[in-house]
Amino acid sequence: MKHETLEKHMGLLALVMVLAVSVGGLTQIVPLFFQDVTTRPIIGMKPRTALEVEGRDVYIANGCVGCHSQMIRPLRAETERYGHYSVAGESAWDHPFLWGSKRTGPDLARVGGRYSDDWHRVHLRDPRAVVPESVMPAYGFLERNLLDSSQTATKLQVQRELGVPYSDADIAGAAAAVEGKTEMDALIAYLQSLGTLIKSKR
Ligand code: HEC
Repeated sequence: MKHETLEKHMGLLALVMVLAVSVGGLTQIVPLFFQDVTTRPIIGMKPRTALEVEGRDVYIANGCVGCHSQMIRPLRAETERYGHYSVAGESAWDHPFLWGSKRTGPDLARVGGRYSDDWHRVHLRDPRAVVPESVMPAYGFLERNLLDSSQTATKLQVQRELGVPYSDADIAGAAAAVEGKTEMDALIAYLQSLGTLIKSKR
C-alpha cells in the first residue's frame, strides 16, 4: 500500500495507527504477565505486621498517594536521590499497589529508616516545622484517632486470600497487636517499613 493512500484516508490511517500502537504496546506488556520475576516476592520479604497494614490503610484514607509516588524509576537522577530503583517483587504483596504517579512531594518507596520515628511525628504534626517551604498538609489529628481494631483480623484474612502468607497466629493476634495504638503510630510503622530490604548507597 502506498503511503499516500494511507495519508489520504482518515479512517484507514486511524485503523493502521491503532494496530501499530497495539502491537508495540502488547509486545512490551504481555511477556510480563508470564515472567515469574514480576510476581515473586523478593528474598527476605515478610508480610506486613498488623500495625503496618493499618498504617497502610491510614496512608490510603488520607490521600498520601495523591502527592507521593512509591516507584523509583531506573534513571540516574532518581536513584541518586531516592536509592535503588524499585523492583516488581517488592510490590508482590501490595493489594492494591500504591505506586502512584503524582509527585508533589518526594517518592517514598525507600523512606523506611531514612528518618527517626520522632522526625515523622514532628513532620506529620506540622510539616513546616521541619521543612519551612513545605506544602504538605498537617496530619496532627492522626495522633488523636485510636485505631479501630475490630476489622484488623479481617484485613489480614483478605490479604491472605490474595496470596500474602499470613499464618493463623498472625490473624488471631492481629487485633491485640494494634490495640490502643493511634493512626499516627500505625502510619509511622508503615512508613518505616517501606523499601528497606534493598540496600542502596544512601
Ligand atoms: C498536597 C500534597 C501532599 C500530601 C497530600 C502529602 N504530602 Fe507528604 N510531602 C509533600 C511535600 C511537598 C513534601 C516535601 C516537603 C516536606 O518534607 O514536607 C512531603 C514530604 C513528605 C515526607 C518526607 C519525605 C522525604 O524523603 O523527605 C514524608 C515521609 C511524607 N511527606 C509523608 C506523607 C504522608 C504519610 C502523607 C499522608 C498522611 C502525606 N505525606 C501527604 C506533599 C504532600
